[in-house]
Amino acid sequence: MKPVRPADLIAVQPPRRTVAFSRRSLLLGGLGLAALSGPAFAGYAGVEAASMLDVTRYKLRPRGWPAGQRLTITVIADLHAGGPNMGLARIRDIVDASNALQSDIVLLLGDFVATHRFVTEPVAAPVWAAELMRLKAPLGVHAILGNHDWWFHQADIRAALAGARIPLMENDAVLLGEAGARFWLAGLGDQLAVPLGHGRFRGADDLAGTMARITTDDPVILMAHEPDIFTSVPERVSLTLAGHTHGGQVRLPLVWPAFVPSQYGARFAYGHIVEGGRDLIVSGGLGTSVVPLRVGVPPEIVHVELAA
Ligand SMILES: [Fe+2]
Repeated sequence: MKPVRPADLIAVQPPRRTVAFSRRSLLLGGLGLAALSGPAFAGYAGVEAASMLDVTRYKLRPRGWPAGQRLTITVIADLHAGGPNMGLARIRDIVDASNALQSDIVLLLGDFVATHRFVTEPVAAPVWAAELMRLKAPLGVHAILGNHDWWFHQADIRAALAGARIPLMENDAVLLGEAGARFWLAGLGDQLAVPLGHGRFRGADDLAGTMARITTDDPVILMAHEPDIFTSVPERVSLTLAGHTHGGQVRLPLVWPAFVPSQYGARFAYGHIVEGGRDLIVSGGLGTSVVPLRVGVPPEIVHVELAA
């Protein structure tokens, strides 16, 4: 594990965050999670988990991105479909809110299914995939898999995405956009694909193979479920987009960032990170893992505007 070096971190402007809507019942959200978790604070956590939906906006021109080449991206990360906080109605709301952003492209960064023990409303893969099929963008909807997708229901998830005609990118890259405004979209295989025990994993990621698919000088956007790959991403990539961390999911004093699922701790936990002139945006995601609680990290759709 590489040590976290504060000097490596460059503070950037905090994202602009707007609450898109608040449709779910605060009372039901609080009660549902209180029933599961008991403590009074679960009511507060339930409010965040079940009722909030932020749109977090970033506007940047990363290195290698041509001046004047505008591109808007909607990022949906860590949906973790399944109630109490990601039932079918909630997924519908998220799809509607995403479509309202009218971005050029929609990227799905993996972890599609809730796998925690407190799932109260399973949402079958073809059902959530049918909702995601409603996502609309001129340059399409593109997906990668996350670690949960590899660990649980992998065949169903692959079949559901295929059934929804959402292309799944695994160590691949495609050239998108109009002539004069082209860019490569690359998608990395999951870095934690196969658990080996004792906290070790064999990844399905092949960064070199992914980069080898890029055959022109057009700029590159890389999708990676886990942000940890960022330390290896070459300068050729203008922007890396990741999820997985849920921003820590539960941000409590003395606890956070102990539970950030990254070998780098809080270094890549959330937000816009610039290191060595390279840009990474980590979404806090939408759903939950381990427990259906979020504290201090509201569910979010990320909207990125490049080279405005
Ligand atoms: Fe994940």
